[in-house]
Amino acid sequence: GGGDAGTAARLTAERYRSWLKRIAVTGAATGYGPLETAVQELVNGLEALLGWQPSIVAETEQAGGCVLVGTAGSSSVIDEVLADGVRAEGYRIRTRSGDKDQPCIIVAGGDERGALYGVFHLLRLLRTGADLASLNIMENPACRLRMINHWDNMDGSIERGYAGRSIFFRDGEVLADSKRITDYARLMASVGINGIAINNVNVHELETLLITERYLPQVARIADVFRAYGITLYLSINYSSPMQLGGLPTADPLDESVRAWWRSKMTDIYHHIPDFGGVVVKADSENRPGPFTYGRDHADGANMLAEALEPFGGLVLWRCFVYNCHQDWRDRSTDRARAAYDHFKPLDGRFKDNVILQIKNGPMDFQVREPVSPLIGAMERTNQMVEFQITQEYTGQQRDVCYLVPQWKGVLDFDTRCSGEGSTVKRIAAGEVHPYRYSGITAVTSIGDDSNWTGHHLAAANLYGYGRLIWNPELSAEEIASEWLMMTFGVSEEDPAGAVITRILHESWHTYEHYTAPLGVGWMVTPHYHYGVDVDGYEYSKWGTYHFADRDGIGVDRTQATGTGYTAQYRPEVGQRYEQLESCPDELLLFFHHVPYTHVLKSGKTVIQHIYDTHFAGVEQVEKWIGDWRQLEGQVDAERHAQISERLQMQLDNARQWRDVINTYFYRKSGIPDEHGRLIY
Ligand code: GCU
Repeated sequence: GGGDAGTAARLTAERYRSWLKRIAVTGAATGYGPLETAVQELVNGLEALLGWQPSIVAETEQAGGCVLVGTAGSSSVIDEVLADGVRAEGYRIRTRSGDKDQPCIIVAGGDERGALYGVFHLLRLLRTGADLASLNIMENPACRLRMINHWDNMDGSIERGYAGRSIFFRDGEVLADSKRITDYARLMASVGINGIAINNVNVHELETLLITERYLPQVARIADVFRAYGITLYLSINYSSPMQLGGLPTADPLDESVRAWWRSKMTDIYHHIPDFGGVVVKADSENRPGPFTYGRDHADGANMLAEALEPFGGLVLWRCFVYNCHQDWRDRSTDRARAAYDHFKPLDGRFKDNVILQIKNGPMDFQVREPVSPLIGAMERTNQMVEFQITQEYTGQQRDVCYLVPQWKGVLDFDTRCSGEGSTVKRIAAGEVHPYRYSGITAVTSIGDDSNWTGHHLAAANLYGYGRLIWNPELSAEEIASEWLMMTFGVSEEDPAGAVITRILHESWHTYEHYTAPLGVGWMVTPHYHYGVDVDGYEYSKWGTYHFADRDGIGVDRTQATGTGYTAQYRPEVGQRYEQLESCPDELLLFFHHVPYTHVLKSGKTVIQHIYDTHFAGVEQVEKWIGDWRQLEGQVDAERHAQISERLQMQLDNARQWRDVINTYFYRKSGIPDEHGRLIY
């Protein structure tokens, strides 16, 4: 009952009070920077979580019952705690027994960001009820660039957004003074995000103007808010800006007037935003302008921008989502999966060292199941970062639950073998495999101005989990879900509500995979919207997204022996595993092979029976969740209970439609009945 929980909370609060009465700060005051924010967050956090306002004291007065927050070099106590091992943006939290049994908690940051992250960690400990008696925590971020990309447009819409409108833009204006932006910066800093690109990679007419005097002052105000939270602001730019803004006849990267235009443009930007992070560029991709128009390649294109950014320490985040989106479906020799590697691999060594190639996790486009992009790790002399998608474009659009942390973990743990055994994606992103000057991870975000940020309450686990995972890829999907659960619903997995939420999250990715496109083939979605089923919606289109189902079988032959040769883009140890039917994992079978419906999987089932079974199972799973969730009425607050019920119902409708369309489609194609005689139309 609530009474017991109330008493427990009071006891915890009292226990914490003896530790957390005072706050002392030591460190260089750099104006309104992350250290000041750290202290403010601690004050606010203690008040919100425990109900009292700590006093702020000078370091010299701190005796006990105090939290000391500081940065490297600011005091001998801090430096002693830091010792060695804490790097930039890292921190250490230690409990030190002080005089009179009044111990002290020290949050020592490698720098200001580190101190801020340390404070958020301490608040997380309080929220999850941790014992503070003998803390000794050391944390360093795995990746240097820990980023978020927004696909927000200035009219307030969000491309592939499922949680309301943009928090940055509305009706062509920048919402520079919105309180929501501060809340968002907190949210992101609390999980260690240190860079955010605020506008869509598809930079349309109006967004092209973001780098002009018309909008830069407002963008600079967002950068001010971000800065206080240790977040660097980036912008997506239009490659043909010199023509659209500068009136030049060309955007040729080797043209001296174009180069001069960009140099002067960057000078303007840095005049407004002295710590501007740099630019995200989608060039020669899905009809966006780029260097190809002028017979130049991506290295020429990226280096021209890199040169203009170099004097200011800015970066070019150059996207590798480059493929032919005007393919003739009759052309069986072109394979979209090959495109990024074919375009970029030959350019290794040609990029300047402030260019980072941004590579989607898979070779196609954020499908529920894809292999890891063979380009990741394949360029020793070119900085790289991985791009994930938190917004659930192809994974249920925040109507259906799909906890993506297990998927991302699979990618990060994948051994590319690019530099021998252990060349995992997480080590590549951390710059440990190749000596990259810059590397990291970015993701397309899922937030909008919905009151709960992510549309579906449970979709917030992905946003939180992304930040936690890229900070520390060794965390398990279970640990992350459990932290999130406690902090969001205030319960553990042992609680009945906690148990149900945990189970739904952990089953959700496989469930979504079960009722949608089978065995890694992907793409059987409603064209353009990407929610709901349309088996042949993309089959005769220009997008390079085919399943090749006929009466005998299904799948894309990407082998070297008889197919598109895509498997050869991997290191042989990896490529051979996919090349051979015997070793290709079931879940990716149809990504790599075209097989008969009667082909027997490792699971012992035929492909057709697997399709039927998973589609029935997926729907049953959602039905089960609905039943379990109904039981929790009265145990979860009414608002969240009702909203999640409603979305689960939408998910069930979606799952049923997928099940029946997919099963019927393949039954009609193959003529093979379900072994269990279930209803197929
Ligand atoms: C997907 C998505 C687009 C997006 C593109 C990209 O194709 O559907 O909306 O612009 O990816 O990543 O550039």
